[in-house]
Amino acid sequence: MKTMFTDCRIVSLHTDVTEQQGYQVQENMMIAVENGVISALGSSLPSDGFTHVSLENRLVTPGLIDCHTHLVFAGNRANEFEQRLNGVSYQDIAAQGGGILATVNATRKASLESLIELALPRAKALISDGVTTVEIKSGYGLTVNDELKMLRAAKMVGREANIHVTTTLLGAHALPPEFAGRGNDYIDLVCNEMIPAAAEENLADAVDVFCEGIGFSKIQMQRVFEAALSHGLKIKGHTEQLSNLGGSALAAQMGARSVDHIEYIDLSGVEALAANNTVATLLPGAFYFLRETQKPPIDLLRKNHVPMAIATDFNPGTSPFASLTLMMNMASTFFGLTPKETLYGVTKHAAQALGLNKGQLAIGFDADFAVWDLSEPAELSYQIGVTGLHARYLNGVKANDH
Ligand code: NIG
Ligand code: FE
Repeated sequence: MKTMFTDCRIVSLHTDVTEQQGYQVQENMMIAVENGVISALGSSLPSDGFTHVSLENRLVTPGLIDCHTHLVFAGNRANEFEQRLNGVSYQDIAAQGGGILATVNATRKASLESLIELALPRAKALISDGVTTVEIKSGYGLTVNDELKMLRAAKMVGREANIHVTTTLLGAHALPPEFAGRGNDYIDLVCNEMIPAAAEENLADAVDVFCEGIGFSKIQMQRVFEAALSHGLKIKGHTEQLSNLGGSALAAQMGARSVDHIEYIDLSGVEALAANNTVATLLPGAFYFLRETQKPPIDLLRKNHVPMAIATDFNPGTSPFASLTLMMNMASTFFGLTPKETLYGVTKHAAQALGLNKGQLAIGFDADFAVWDLSEPAELSYQIGVTGLHARYLNGVKANDH
């Protein structure tokens, strides 16, 4: 399969995060794709033996990557939204057995088929925003079988909706009621049964832990990560979302691809990310929906050259928003990221957070594109609700989205 895309207005992203001129539109470009991978880019390329596809002078970006979602779950938590507006905190709701555990109850009762059916419209909403790759976590099952059910559903969503899916086992998301008061026993189950079962069936690319007062301690996170690494799985953390426990630094030192949320990270945490090339994934939807006031330390991250990714964190409790361009907009309006930084956040840096060879229009990268009826990149996150998406290509093949 050899395809030559012509008449492209390419948004080029250069390799150096700090580079000021890394954000140009190159006119009249050609992109050669062989076997799903970009093999050449230029204004004039030899194209004998290639099928030609004109993109008619549209703007072309890497397909967007949503590197942190909890897209598979049953039920909803509109009632908790209402409770919070009546003055009850997210932590209090969790302490009363609601929050994550409310979604666990609903998800345990749901069949594989119904989980897929519920997740498909969410995936399609992301797709209509130009997303070609989505990470989906488990974490609402909290038994071996229910966690595996969620991961299977996630993979099926990828097949049915035509979107690349990477899966993350988040068994250490909350302590299930049957383990109340026995946190370490539950961590034993995660390490000794869940991780080996997910690895054996090839159901997870990575393992995540919610390291927080209402989640798990740093020591428990360390045990889970050791088990994950021993099974060859990548690691990433929900860290410093509601308080500073130092989880980000430990995760980074253990080789985490990303640490996510990080509103409460401090200088030593940021320095650990920089030293270990760990991505800081910002989740402005959760910040907004929980009406948080503590912002992630963007200037410190910039100063230390830490790559920043942006994701929806789509979930029923803290971020019920299936729009990645809305998150780009929020990352700008709440956290002050520039449109260039937000584009990096949903392409190159999001790919780095997942350890994927995607997110750049450059030789050797997967040919996943989003093609837009827009004239400049800043428009991507400027207007919300009216998407400028024209088409998506996955590994050089047009997705039949309509
Ligand atoms: O990323 N922080 C933990 N996990 C999710 C919330 C999950 C939920 O409330 O259902 C998050 O915000
Ligand atoms: Fe999350």
